[in-house]
Amino acid sequence: MHGSPPRPLSLAASGPLTGTIPVPGDKSISHRSLMLSALAVGTSRVTGLLEGEDVLATAAAMRAMGATIVRGDDGVWTIDGVGVGGLLQPAGALDMGNSGTSTRLLMGLVSSHPITATFTGDASLSGRPMGRVIDPLRAMGADITASPGGRLPLMLRGIAPAVPIDYTLPVASAQVKSAILLAGLNTPGITRVVEPVPTRDHSERMLKGFGATLTVEQTPTGRVIELHGEAELRPQTITVPGDPSSAAFPVVAALLVPGSVVTVTNVGLNPTRAGLFDVLRAMGADITYANAREVGGESVADLVVRASTLTGITVDPAIAPSMIDEFPILFVAAALAKGRTVTTGLDELRVKESDRIATMAEGLRMIGARVQETEDGLIIDGTGGDPLPGGGTIAAKLDHRIAMSFVVAGLVSSAPVTIDDMAPVATSFPTFTTLLRDLGAPL
Ligand code: S3P
Repeated sequence: MHGSPPRPLSLAASGPLTGTIPVPGDKSISHRSLMLSALAVGTSRVTGLLEGEDVLATAAAMRAMGATIVRGDDGVWTIDGVGVGGLLQPAGALDMGNSGTSTRLLMGLVSSHPITATFTGDASLSGRPMGRVIDPLRAMGADITASPGGRLPLMLRGIAPAVPIDYTLPVASAQVKSAILLAGLNTPGITRVVEPVPTRDHSERMLKGFGATLTVEQTPTGRVIELHGEAELRPQTITVPGDPSSAAFPVVAALLVPGSVVTVTNVGLNPTRAGLFDVLRAMGADITYANAREVGGESVADLVVRASTLTGITVDPAIAPSMIDEFPILFVAAALAKGRTVTTGLDELRVKESDRIATMAEGLRMIGARVQETEDGLIIDGTGGDPLPGGGTIAAKLDHRIAMSFVVAGLVSSAPVTIDDMAPVATSFPTFTTLLRDLGAPL
């Protein structure tokens, strides 16, 4: 997390990757399982929780607001909730580290409780816009004093009862949608969110699972979600599926390193998350789904991946929300593909943990890829499968997905590639380097 010394890593070209690996629990689902369990009355149990720094920041914040959260020696997490409306005033600032999801969702929760919380974060998080949640939460009655530009650190004074709103999302953001729905939990009446473009629906699924009255309707103007407030949540037993956004890195590594055959087990394939695998298959990737099943109300399968010759593609911007965190690694795949890949409509990438359009363009160019940066995407002319020249040190800008993307790029580069700091990888995928080493990567 912030404050830790930088941990550089140098990569050399890899021989074939082989074997079977699991990926850790889904980050989005892990955050939500802690938050909703902390608001249920009684004891919930969570198996497969992602034990990454972002999720641990959520756990610490929920503890600071009264929940009892304990990890058993068997890896099962037990959460005793305080009930909707029962959050306590935290004694100190809530340190959100690198985590935008923790910040925005917890701002929603605090907004409809009569408590005040200060949110702080690392340099990356402190540069990210919070106006997108501040506006609707103010409309519900929260009193928010933010740093210039609507950024952290910020202080939020919640109110009970808050006022239910009917809000159409101006940006496609599951975090904004979820912040409003979570604020709606302790708000009398119906809180309504309209999303013109569908985003990940884990909050809706899990709120229903915890017994909230929530309806989702597809209308000509978009998905309409209505939550009946002053909900009572019943404790649950949750199994968190593996994170497709983490699986993306070993999957692309296996596709790009010649001769590889890798199975990634227990990968969540919720349709609002699985866009990358569809795009890769359209590029010619040999990915098969084995052992398809349901885990915790989400579709899951084992992905069997064989090294493949990829062909460039024009990515439909409509698919972007279902792979919003996967563009950095898609750009690496595109850099090795035959022909041109064109992406557009990716403005949101500029406000992630780093400006992922600029950071990827800069890094890919440094290692010899042919990349043009546009306002809302990248145009990449691939090598056709030949290794990238490599060399140089990549600035990961406190962005876990940038660091992991360039590790994969390093495995298919002629000269060594150095990542300036791998520390942020612990936010979402603490076992990343170990698992790649298990597959035979020279890390
Ligand atoms: C997330 C939503 C997405 C995603 C983030 C996790 C979530 O952010 O990029 O990693 O758990 O709701 P936006 O809501 O900003 O698109």
